[in-house]
Amino acid sequence: MHVACVMDGNGRWASQRGLPRTEGHGAGEEALMDVVEGALEIGVGWLTMFAFSTENWRRPADEVRYLMNFNESLLARRRDELNDKGVRIRFAGRRDWRVPRRVLRRMDESSDMTLSNRRMTLTMAFNYGGRAEIVDAVRKLVAEGVRPDKIDERTIRAHLYFPDQPDPDLVIRTSGEYRISNFLLWQLAYSELVFTDVLWPDFRREDLFEAVAEFQRRERRYGRVHG
Ligand code: IPE
Ligand code: IPE
Ligand code: MG
Repeated sequence: MHVACVMDGNGRWASQRGLPRTEGHGAGEEALMDVVEGALEIGVGWLTMFAFSTENWRRPADEVRYLMNFNESLLARRRDELNDKGVRIRFAGRRDWRVPRRVLRRMDESSDMTLSNRRMTLTMAFNYGGRAEIVDAVRKLVAEGVRPDKIDERTIRAHLYFPDQPDPDLVIRTSGEYRISNFLLWQLAYSELVFTDVLWPDFRREDLFEAVAEFQRRERRYGRVHG
């Protein structure tokens, strides 16, 4: 099963406590680790977490800087633990000049270190945009000189960031926002969506289990008729 999460509501969580927004991001680490643990517990093989979008560069420079440092230090703090649990860490997104080198280096180290783990694939969507991913796929197709009549859904999928990754079965968004915000646009064509009011820093494995239970009550039809 593939579960994808839009970890949202960190800023509001902090504001409610009279704290700077960045404290909310910091508090999100506990939620992330608990969700990974819960996902392992119930045998989720694929977990994708939206950590930084291609649009998040529009935030104040000090928040962007905090998020870059935070994601880098989180990896430094947590990668051994994740590795011990059998988690393969991967990163989906653009490696553009705005991402500091040491962040890229830490990402590479973390994915290299966990490369052969198979219990779960944890994909961190970082400097990720669903539209950017599709643009990048099209660029690759054109660069390869693929003929128009050879392009179909399979060839497009084969040029996405991780062609081996199954589409998400379930997408969870926290913090009471009912939108996709440019997450996994190609892949979520038939995903079940679960929205919860819980703010990300308060989200725990029980909330994941509840979302999975809700998913299990859904009937996926893929365009067919009921039954
Ligand atoms: C999600 O929390 C984290 C990122 C987008 C990096 P927000 O920072 O968006 O929190 P709100 O939505 O402002 O509460
Ligand atoms: C989506 O949350 C991106 C991440 C969780 C990393 P945002 O908070 O950036 O989304 P919008 O701006 O509310 O749509
Ligand atoms: Mg938000």
